Amino acid sequence: MKNETLLYEDESHKCVMFSLEDEEHKEHSLSVNQFLIIQHESAILIDPGSGGIFGELYDAVARHIDPGKIKFIFFSHQDPDVAGAIAEWSVATSAKLIMSQLWTRFMGHYGLMDMGRIIALEDHGARIKFEHDFLQFIPAHFLHSPGNFSLYDSRSKILFSGDIGAAVLSPQNLNKNVDDFEEHRPFLESFHGRYMAANHFCRAWVKCVRKYEVAMIAPQHGSLFKEEMAHHFLEWFEKVEGGYEHCEELYGC
Ligand SMILES: [Fe+2]
Ligand SMILES: [Fe+2]
Repeated sequence: MKNETLLYEDESHKCVMFSLEDEEHKEHSLSVNQFLIIQHESAILIDPGSGGIFGELYDAVARHIDPGKIKFIFFSHQDPDVAGAIAEWSVATSAKLIMSQLWTRFMGHYGLMDMGRIIALEDHGARIKFEHDFLQFIPAHFLHSPGNFSLYDSRSKILFSGDIGAAVLSPQNLNKNVDDFEEHRPFLESFHGRYMAANHFCRAWVKCVRKYEVAMIAPQHGSLFKEEMAHHFLEWFEKVEGGYEHCEELYGC
């Protein structure tokens, strides 16, 4: 299928990336990735995005698994390109909705009625059993959102990193994989330099991530970092300077 990439598959576990964009807002939006992890008869959907792609994503998911079997929907943070269609997904599935405790009270503004469906993550994150393996919610606060998590899938060893690793307008976004880190780097720099809060948080996140064996980093925007490229990315991200380091030039007063 167009706009669909199989990231991992074995006899009982599968990770799929969809790259669907809202046609109406395409010119102004970033390229956006949505992810689905399936193991046996259950699934978790990651960062399903806005209302403009709801129908298309629902159909794409349904080609892999009955959407009624989605056990969890994870929202890395509160932005509309992540959680804009939370109300639609809450009606279309019986999934539990997982997000930072910071954002639960705001979800009513996206039209969510049934707050009892939310699992609110505390700041240190959590580990949930997913069939025979586990999913780890890794703190990513202030990178860029103050209540933010990445998700590590222990079976595929993929780290779903949300906005961390996003690249804007990189030519390498077209082939979905970063194969030359140095060429891709300027497009990472423009995004992270402005959206990340401070280097201190970048280092804290990398320290948490390094506890796990990571085979791939899959961001919500842009290209995938596989094996060696994932290590290049972590080394680079540890040194990223954010808003705090550029405070004077940002404020200009
Ligand atoms: Fe965001
Ligand atoms: Fe985003």
